[in-house]
Amino acid sequence: MIAIDVPSIKNGYNSLSKRFFISLLHKNTIQKQVQNPHRWWFCTKNTFIKKMTSDKLLNHLHTRQSAGLYRTRKTIHNQKNAHVTVQGKTLINFCSNDYLGLSVNETVIAALQKGAEKFGVGSGSAHLICGHSSAHHALEEALADFTGRERSLLFSTGYMANLGTITALCKQGDSIFEDKLNHASLLDGGLFSGARFRRYPHNDTQRLSQLVSTPTEGEKLIVTDGVFSMDGDVADLRALSDIAQKNAAWLMVDDAHGLGVLGKTGGGLVEELQLSANDVPILMGTLGKAFGTFGAFIAGSNTLIESLIQSSRAYIYTTALPPAIAYATHASLKIVTQETWRRETLQALITQFKAGATQLNLPLMPSNSPIQPVLVGDSIRALQMSEQLFAAGFLVSAIRPPTVPQGKARLRITLSALHQPHDINRLLDALATIHRSYSCNAK
Ligand SMILES: Cc1ncc(COP(=O)(O)O)c(C=O)c1O
Repeated sequence: MIAIDVPSIKNGYNSLSKRFFISLLHKNTIQKQVQNPHRWWFCTKNTFIKKMTSDKLLNHLHTRQSAGLYRTRKTIHNQKNAHVTVQGKTLINFCSNDYLGLSVNETVIAALQKGAEKFGVGSGSAHLICGHSSAHHALEEALADFTGRERSLLFSTGYMANLGTITALCKQGDSIFEDKLNHASLLDGGLFSGARFRRYPHNDTQRLSQLVSTPTEGEKLIVTDGVFSMDGDVADLRALSDIAQKNAAWLMVDDAHGLGVLGKTGGGLVEELQLSANDVPILMGTLGKAFGTFGAFIAGSNTLIESLIQSSRAYIYTTALPPAIAYATHASLKIVTQETWRRETLQALITQFKAGATQLNLPLMPSNSPIQPVLVGDSIRALQMSEQLFAAGFLVSAIRPPTVPQGKARLRITLSALHQPHDINRLLDALATIHRSYSCNAK
């Protein structure tokens, strides 16, 4: 792109310059006045569009930064139990979803290696071409068994499982009802489906009931997180199931943060509440959290799973999860169901953290899960607190809008069976110091 000062243009085109511009336009070249009215930019159409786009993007980035909403990544150089190394500094990790510590479990790692030897690294194709291995198949059968459903279907990620299921089940003319605090992948599924999309206030079953009972021609689908990912509280699944059954609606529960953690055998919120496949006909779980591996699944009836295989675009048009991951997840599933001490350890740590934080008057949110958010409110302050915790040796992420509502920025602290009681005490001490310094400054 070039910039030329053209004084002769000041009072309009003369016929020579007019011809010149027309010829430039014909050569797919465009002129644009930017800032200075006498300075004209000459560039190809593509360069011009690129400049406009990058200006817009830069503005957007600046706006995010000044509002304390800029997202950055921390590079982890290595991980040992609950400790990670970032920028040469060893930190206790309090923001991972590896609730049971299985991502670093020796048996799971050995299974991953064996799976890679047996099947190679990648699956090489989508499930419906030649990517569906015996490791995938065995894991699907084991997950169906684990969740007490007829069948299960593996997806490459939880985001895709949610998007792929909602959009396969609902289309224009149907209605989807979602909790306002649902995970982004569920909300995106609702938006992309083309169905009528209604969001109800968080856990407001009365409002949901009003919305769902409005007569409509199409199908109805109620969708909720089991354990809410940013708040750590749980949905009233029993009430949701009643509403669904009374109104001939489907109920889909994303229990990404409940599976492995809740229930006697780690079967999640549905196991804890003893809800059957009839009560919750569409159950979604992720494998990258308590299972310590990667991927996700939908569990439900044979008809549901067959329908997804036939028409879920996020299932059909993507490469299957690496079979070695499926192999490793099978090993991890056994640990999830059998090693109940991991859930007990985690529960004891949650109790310890909550008691300590309450004593310190930290603004906790109402959660009994390993997700223990400390409400901060202001995004810039949340970011500063996260940085102070980093300096003190803790990795804790600041969660800000739009992931959470405006004015509800928070430190999302997550606990894992990998933590030791003294890790919790050290974190509480650091939080107390930081919280005190802000309270003093505010006075
Ligand atoms: C509630 C919930 N659903 C779905 C997902 C997406 O899962 P995945 O990370 O496997 O894409 C996440 C997490 O990231 C989540 O918290």
